Amino acid sequence: MKSTPVLPMALLVSLIGILSTTSAQDSNSTHPKRGLIYIQPGKGQDKDYNNFVGPKSPLTWYYTYSPWPTLTQWDAEFVPMIHGVDDATEGVDRILSFHNGTGTLGQNTMNHILTFNEPDGDTDSGGSDSSPRHSAQVYLETIAPLREDPYNFQISVPATTGSPKGLEWLHDFNESCWDQNPDGGCQFDFVATHWYGDFAGLASWLGSVHDLYPELPIWLTEFAIPAMDADATQAFMNQSLPFLDELEYLDRYSWFGTFRENRANEWTGDGVSMLNSNGHLTSLGAEYMGGQAAGYEEGQGGDQGAASSVRCSALLLVVGILIAFVGLW
Ligand SMILES: *[C@@H]1O[C@H](CO)[C@@H](O)[C@H](O)[C@H]1NC(C)=O
Ligand SMILES: *[C@@H]1O[C@H](CO)[C@@H](O)[C@H](O)[C@H]1NC(C)=O
Ligand SMILES: *[C@@H]1O[C@H](CO)[C@@H](O)[C@H](O)[C@H]1NC(C)=O
Ligand SMILES: *[C@@H]1O[C@H](CO)[C@@H](O)[C@H](O)[C@H]1NC(C)=O
Repeated sequence: MKSTPVLPMALLVSLIGILSTTSAQDSNSTHPKRGLIYIQPGKGQDKDYNNFVGPKSPLTWYYTYSPWPTLTQWDAEFVPMIHGVDDATEGVDRILSFHNGTGTLGQNTMNHILTFNEPDGDTDSGGSDSSPRHSAQVYLETIAPLREDPYNFQISVPATTGSPKGLEWLHDFNESCWDQNPDGGCQFDFVATHWYGDFAGLASWLGSVHDLYPELPIWLTEFAIPAMDADATQAFMNQSLPFLDELEYLDRYSWFGTFRENRANEWTGDGVSMLNSNGHLTSLGAEYMGGQAAGYEEGQGGDQGAASSVRCSALLLVVGILIAFVGLW
């Protein structure tokens, strides 16, 4: 039996080839605006996020609706959020601890801050429900100093709902800012906004926000078409992504939702989920990750597929072959 090592040797060489090419895939993202909304996964479902992170992920940034980073092993930008007026002091303190190095960001970088999630919306639906006047006061006193030396963070306009109510809130907020600070109102570096609806509505909503803040880039930090079946949702995503990638005043976007089908809320419906009920990519999730061209397919799971586990199983094979060799001799 000692005359057979040629075949395993060739296999070994080609496996080493696979190992080195898969680990050399780090490259500039083809979708630099595209980001991830981190939503706490269900119990025992932490591997779900392996679907979205890692060296071959086209996603470049993420947020958690909080000042707490969760994916610190990933080389991406973490964008802390000060969710509402009530947690502003604590949030600023946390952000400062990352800034001065007493809090750890792991591999993440941090340059931007999102403020106030849906202050015009109810707490029931994830909004922070605070008046324009009180929000202006908290912004000016607690958050605005982070735009100055030595911090120099880029800070967003409060992320309202994509609705007339949102525009009205922003209008009143701006008035309160000028009332409380006649020297300059509230200063911002970018706008964050949300959209739920069809493509024409999305394009028109972004146009309205751009008219209101013509000088500032926009981040679309939640968007989807709610309550549609898989095909209609996919068609909406297919139409939206290239539009958003091209839109020159739009700097970043993140699809809602990064959760399993069975955890979607009634209002958005299951169709928006990027994960199926096993925590594997839906076709929507695969497309958001760049599709087949980027190595993502429907059904691929954070607990199996992906580059890291390809490497892992190739390694196991190599080890297996070596053991077989030892056995042969
Ligand atoms: C990204 O592209 C730039 C310019 O082409 C290059 O200098 C840089 O090394 C690239 N980064 C990665 C991670 O490949
Ligand atoms: C860093 O920032 C935190 C949060 O504001 C603060 O408690 C801590 O004293 C700061 N540490 C240093 C060394 O500046
Ligand atoms: C805020 O109010 C100021 C002063 O009235 C006005 O010049 C500015 O256009 C307003 N900005 C927004 C975003 O409403
Ligand atoms: C969306 O785009 C992908 C990739 O181009 C394509 O395979 C798929 O059929 C499209 N789906 C719909 C519903 O448009």
